[in-house]
Amino acid sequence: MKGKVALITGSSYGIGREIARELASRGARVVLNARNAQRLQQTAIAFRESGLEAEAIAADVTRPEEAARLVRETLERFGRLDILVSNVGTNLFGEFAETEAEAMRRIVEVNYLAALYVSREAIKELMARKGSLVFISSLAGLHGLPYLSIYSSAKMALTALAQSLRIETHGSGLHLGIAYIGATKADPEKRVLNAKGELIRRPEGVLKLEPIPEVARKVVRQIERRQYKLVHTPIGKLNDFASRYFPGLVSWALRRNLPKLRKRMIEEHVYEE
Ligand SMILES: NC(=O)c1ccc[n+]([C@@H]2O[C@H](COP(=O)([O-])OP(=O)(O)OC[C@H]3O[C@@H](n4cnc5c(N)ncnc54)[C@H](OP(=O)(O)O)[C@@H]3O)[C@@H](O)[C@H]2O)c1
Repeated sequence: MKGKVALITGSSYGIGREIARELASRGARVVLNARNAQRLQQTAIAFRESGLEAEAIAADVTRPEEAARLVRETLERFGRLDILVSNVGTNLFGEFAETEAEAMRRIVEVNYLAALYVSREAIKELMARKGSLVFISSLAGLHGLPYLSIYSSAKMALTALAQSLRIETHGSGLHLGIAYIGATKADPEKRVLNAKGELIRRPEGVLKLEPIPEVARKVVRQIERRQYKLVHTPIGKLNDFASRYFPGLVSWALRRNLPKLRKRMIEEHVYEE
């Protein structure tokens, strides 16, 4: 990692920040990104105070022109880009029939379009450096999940993107990766959307939560080993296996738990104070 330049989208807090910290602690020079410039600067300052090399570039990566500026400014400041972690993403918990079109659009933009825009800008440089392009997906990207239908389908689109680009860039030396991460212990600042597009605290869900630093270490190991696909957590690996070979079983298990899922994911919403 020493001397490599890594750009991590959506990294002022949450999983992105910890992936950036893990990369920087192994010697990478990291570019942090988020929309809120003040909070982003605070994160960059905290990194530098602990001896890590970090720059902050505020940009809303759901806008193609800002995604382009983010990559351009990274190259202007460092002269190279070796690793792109397309991390930005957020979730929507709600019943499909109740979901507002605007909320749908926001989920598709932040989970999918942002990944397209930033990676399109960076991919030639990443190929030239024989670097890494890693998409952060979710266990919800392995099999469609009830009350997470928009998020699940946006994350599944990332699978097709990673598969396509892996073939398209074959022979260039670029490492293409996709990480299917499990539910993590939420950053206190984390908010998600409900069907109306309102900000809510993330529902607890039904899975055991992974600590964020553990998730970040796995993503960075995946980059170091230049692994294509990494499914996190034992339940994730089981889901991956069962979704491929016994999809009917996964559907059955989800249907059986539907009332419990509905209660946890929809009825117990806590709104932003
Ligand atoms: N948390 C989980 O349990 C979990 C589970 C599976 C997969 N994942 C995936 O892991 C990734 C990270 O999740 P997370 O929970 O860490 O997310 P998060 O806490 O909601 O991430 C927030 C970060 O993204 C930035 N951000 C949001 N919208 C942005 C935009 N349009 N442009 C640039 N930056 C933006 C935020 O800063 P600003 O608000 O200032 O922009 C902040 O830095 C996502 O792809 C998510 O789907 C998460």
